[in-house]
Amino acid sequence: MTARYGIIGYPLGHTMSPVLHNWGFGQFGLDARYEAWPLEPEGLSAFIERVRTDDIRGVSVTIPHKRTVMEFLDRITDRAKAVGAVNTLYWDGGELCGENTDVIGLVAPLRKLARPASALVLGAGGAARAAVAGLLELGIGDVAVANRTASKADSLAQDFNVRAIPWENRMDHAPGLICNTTPLGMAGAMEDRTPWDADRFPAGCIAYDIVYNPLETRFLREAREAGCATVSGLEMFLHQGLAQFALWTRLNMDEECARVLLLDALA
Ligand code: ATR
Repeated sequence: MTARYGIIGYPLGHTMSPVLHNWGFGQFGLDARYEAWPLEPEGLSAFIERVRTDDIRGVSVTIPHKRTVMEFLDRITDRAKAVGAVNTLYWDGGELCGENTDVIGLVAPLRKLARPASALVLGAGGAARAAVAGLLELGIGDVAVANRTASKADSLAQDFNVRAIPWENRMDHAPGLICNTTPLGMAGAMEDRTPWDADRFPAGCIAYDIVYNPLETRFLREAREAGCATVSGLEMFLHQGLAQFALWTRLNMDEECARVLLLDALA
């Protein structure tokens, strides 16, 4: 019987996850299929019952279910507990488990670069929580958060025992890594915007944008022009997906081929 996988979210906009996972299944000759399942919040409890009874092997979880799904699971990894959000359901020894591969995906491209001593996360939403957890997991000693709404930065900083700095003063700091988790620079109305002034990039810093559409945001372009290393949100997306696939199948997709696949899908 064809093994079933899918993504839940609402509204479920365009997602590249089916492209990635179905390609992976094909590469390994697995009889499996990954589908998109739009799911309203009220349907979550019944859906999890279906996962248990219909032998669904793995689920990607996105907004608005990342937090609420946690109460329905048998086990949650420490990483996902720290973030307070689950983006992956998988089976382990008969238990339905929750992991957060956004954190794994965020960290993976940074492991290929020299580890910065300090980092500044811009934004204080769900993505910022994953970013802070990842940067701490990477061993960065000095992590700070700046957010337009200061109270949200304060509460995130308190949860992770990191520093909050005022949004207005963010560019007075010279971190080794700047990670944008705000929608500034995203395709559409925000595309011309950036959370950082072009002439304020610290020498040698890494600029990381979790936005992947466009592939190179204004923030990343100006950082590159200032001589900084840059990491696109596509890397985070790719690696969170590779980590999901490995949890589900115990197999590792070829990273470079998967990257080319996603670049083609975005083009
Ligand atoms: P996500 O789950 O992707 O992190 P979110 O929880 O909606 O999404 O968080 C979006 C973040 O981007 C928030 O920190 C938000 O700042 P506020 O807390 O002040 O709302 C930030 N953000 C959104 N629009 C912004 C803008 N125009 N300028 C600066 N920050 C912005």
